Amino acid sequence: MSFLLRPVLFLLSLLPILASASPRHFSTLKPAYFLLAGDSTTATQSANGGGWGDGFLNHTLRQGSSGHNYGHNGATTKSFREGGDWAKVIEEAKTKIGNYTVYVTIQFGHNDQKVTSGVNETEYGGNLERFGREVQEVGGIAIFVTPLTRRNYAATSPPTIKQDLAIQRNITIQAAHTTRSRHIDLNIASTDYCNEIGPDAAWEYNLNPTDHTHLNVHGSVVFGRMVSDLMVKQFGDIRAVTEGNGTLSREIWGGVAA
Ligand SMILES: *[C@@H]1O[C@H](CO)[C@@H](O)[C@H](O)[C@H]1NC(C)=O
Ligand SMILES: *[C@@H]1O[C@H](CO)[C@@H](O)[C@H](O)[C@H]1NC(C)=O
Ligand SMILES: *[C@@H]1O[C@H](CO)[C@@H](O)[C@H](O)[C@H]1NC(C)=O
Ligand SMILES: *[C@@H]1O[C@H](CO)[C@@H](O)[C@H](O)[C@H]1NC(C)=O
Ligand SMILES: *[C@@H]1O[C@H](CO)[C@@H](O)[C@H](O)[C@H]1NC(C)=O
Repeated sequence: MSFLLRPVLFLLSLLPILASASPRHFSTLKPAYFLLAGDSTTATQSANGGGWGDGFLNHTLRQGSSGHNYGHNGATTKSFREGGDWAKVIEEAKTKIGNYTVYVTIQFGHNDQKVTSGVNETEYGGNLERFGREVQEVGGIAIFVTPLTRRNYAATSPPTIKQDLAIQRNITIQAAHTTRSRHIDLNIASTDYCNEIGPDAAWEYNLNPTDHTHLNVHGSVVFGRMVSDLMVKQFGDIRAVTEGNGTLSREIWGGVAA
């Protein structure tokens, strides 16, 4: 599909949420509780990290639904389990499952990718699959998220992001298929968007001027909305617990700097 057509079709698919929906359709559904598992590109804004997680939790959910950001700076699929973060995710999933539909987003790759990570690609895929299965075992719904792009542009004309997490993207999608879980393709959506708006606009989302990976608060709001829209497009149950923002969604899927 052409680079330009994709955002247009995407926007059309969002029309039902851009129009205001009657809340009574949703009155029988449980509220959602989102547990976000990941590295610093999911995590709360801090000195050394910041991702889309808090923007998603703070700004996209209907009243009654909420969640907890377990994103951990520097985490790999290995350290997240060994350091005890994953156990906390599963523990909280168990306590919330009675009164909420529990979703666990799983996004790793930025650190697993490093040659020093101690996680090879086979292990990365296996670790992701194990996360997915363990979410299912406690009655939650796993949603794999392909890694947020880095905003590093090659000096082409126009400047273009060379997709450097393509392998991790593929392995994440494969883990979703293997475990029969959901996935959203944040890697492609964020790469396309940053290519459309270009480096000057994309670097407005930087946590600090020279950090092209992590997001400041505004960047978290924008990419949190992108994550939400990607879910809403595919999953009606998530649409039902989502508060839309047509203005922001039109900017994102129209390739306009937000
Ligand atoms: C989310 O809300 C917290 C608490 O109000 C606030 O400190 C933080 O800046 C917000 N972050 C985003 C990305 O909206
Ligand atoms: C669910 O909500 C009910 C009513 O508010 C409360 O009594 C119960 O403890 C909650 N259950 C769980 C597992 O949190
Ligand atoms: C990945 O690591 C595992 C465990 O150390 C090892 O058995 C396997 O051969 C490695 N795979 C590759 C492709 O290096
Ligand atoms: C990722 O998967 C796609 C489609 O299956 C394939 O065309 C592409 O070569 C893969 N990329 C990498 C880096 O493995
Ligand atoms: C929706 O997004 C626009 C554009 O970013 C922003 O100005 C506005 O405050 C947002 N509205 C809500 C209710 O968050």
